[in-house]
Amino acid sequence: MPEPETPATPVTFPPAFLWGAATSAYQIEGAVREDGRTPSIWDTFSHTPGKTAGGEHGDIAVDHYHRFRDDVALMADLGLTAYRFSISWSRVQPTGRGPAVQRGLDFYRNLVDELLAHGIKPAVTLYHWDLPQELEDAGGWPERDTAYRFAEYAQIVGEALGDRVEQWITLNEPWCSAFLGYGSGVHAPGRTDAAASLKAAHHLNLAHGLGTSALRAAMPARNSVAISLNSSVVRPYSQDPADLAAVQKIDDLANGVFHGPILHGAYPETLFAATELITDWSYVQDGDLAAIKQPLDALGLNYYTPALVSATDPDSDGPRADGHGASSHSPWPGADDVAFHQTPGERTEMGWTIDPTGLHDLILRYTREAPGLPLYITENGAAYDDKPDPDGRVHDPERIAYLHGHLRAVRRAIADGADVRGYYLWSLMDNFEWAYGYEKRFGAVYVDYATLARTPKSSALWYGQAARSGTLPPVASAE
Ligand code: FCB
Repeated sequence: MPEPETPATPVTFPPAFLWGAATSAYQIEGAVREDGRTPSIWDTFSHTPGKTAGGEHGDIAVDHYHRFRDDVALMADLGLTAYRFSISWSRVQPTGRGPAVQRGLDFYRNLVDELLAHGIKPAVTLYHWDLPQELEDAGGWPERDTAYRFAEYAQIVGEALGDRVEQWITLNEPWCSAFLGYGSGVHAPGRTDAAASLKAAHHLNLAHGLGTSALRAAMPARNSVAISLNSSVVRPYSQDPADLAAVQKIDDLANGVFHGPILHGAYPETLFAATELITDWSYVQDGDLAAIKQPLDALGLNYYTPALVSATDPDSDGPRADGHGASSHSPWPGADDVAFHQTPGERTEMGWTIDPTGLHDLILRYTREAPGLPLYITENGAAYDDKPDPDGRVHDPERIAYLHGHLRAVRRAIADGADVRGYYLWSLMDNFEWAYGYEKRFGAVYVDYATLARTPKSSALWYGQAARSGTLPPVASAE
């Protein structure tokens, strides 16, 4: 057992640890009609009445497309050593197939060069939920062809940036793409079809496998390829066997459906059994599982809050509290007999309970699940109702406490033997939080949406100090 920590114990990270921040294209870029870009499913969805808070959309977002040089300078000023961003597929391949648009690729090449010039390591995510609308019109992720299109796109971007970007992530949180996009419909494209959501999950897995092979063929061998999963930490409400069975079901649908084929080359048998009335899985073709299980160089884990589940209690069937938005359609196919409960404890502005022990548990679980595979925390962070003081400064002690707690949990996991190589705070700056619009602020940097001016919050300064020194400053130090 490691020495127990006291509040005075300095929390110091390995020297090569990456201190990053993360964003995604649709959430920050804006410029949705410039330089040949065409609509993605998120353009269409956010412009459909009733789909996002206040009808908000990413047309301008935080105008990163035009301000990227200032944004990189800001990251460098703060002291960040890594930056994870995503590529807008319809900016580089407007119809989702065929030749690339050079201007689109140039934007990302310029961004990468700017990062490298400031000593910041770029990590590219190929797909953070913004499917070209033309591919959705052709069937979207439930259609097998979308996986082939993704592999072609991966090859294009790998060839264009593989000489200067070492860290690659195929997909961000395929769970959200499949089950919020095609199951509960709270995300684009907003379909509510349980069978389609499982089909989408398989084709996302296939896209990851084929995309990984395409990247390897297009890039120098030194580059690293990973995927970012929002694997859930699923906890039982009690030790009752029915509650433990509920945990198994949700664990399969949240985690096993992706890490099963990706890491182990098989879907969980229990997943097939739980979903047999919804789908027969006949779209899993011969050879698919081998194509999906590609050797990886790292695994990205995104963590915000744990889940607490039980078997449904027929007497108290309250509202679902799985934290993934309101819909009369469940994002959990075949799990109508499972109830989600609010985890006790303080919550962020999203209503998500703050529980750093979940991050520790998640890291250790994947240390066992994927022995020897380096791990990165590719997202972690919190939304708060931040407001500038009269002097223009933005104090966010709650976010500092959140980051401190979660980084300590990462450090504890490293002490327990986990190979965690870096941490990307979500998010660099306030941005378009999908169906929640601009209402939820996850940024370490405050954005004034009237002027688009950026102001580092006290958490950004605190995190910058951590990045520069490799040791967590005390929580009050940046206030
Ligand atoms: C993750 C997404 C990211 C952001 C955070 C809060 O699920 O990957 O884009 O929305 O949640």
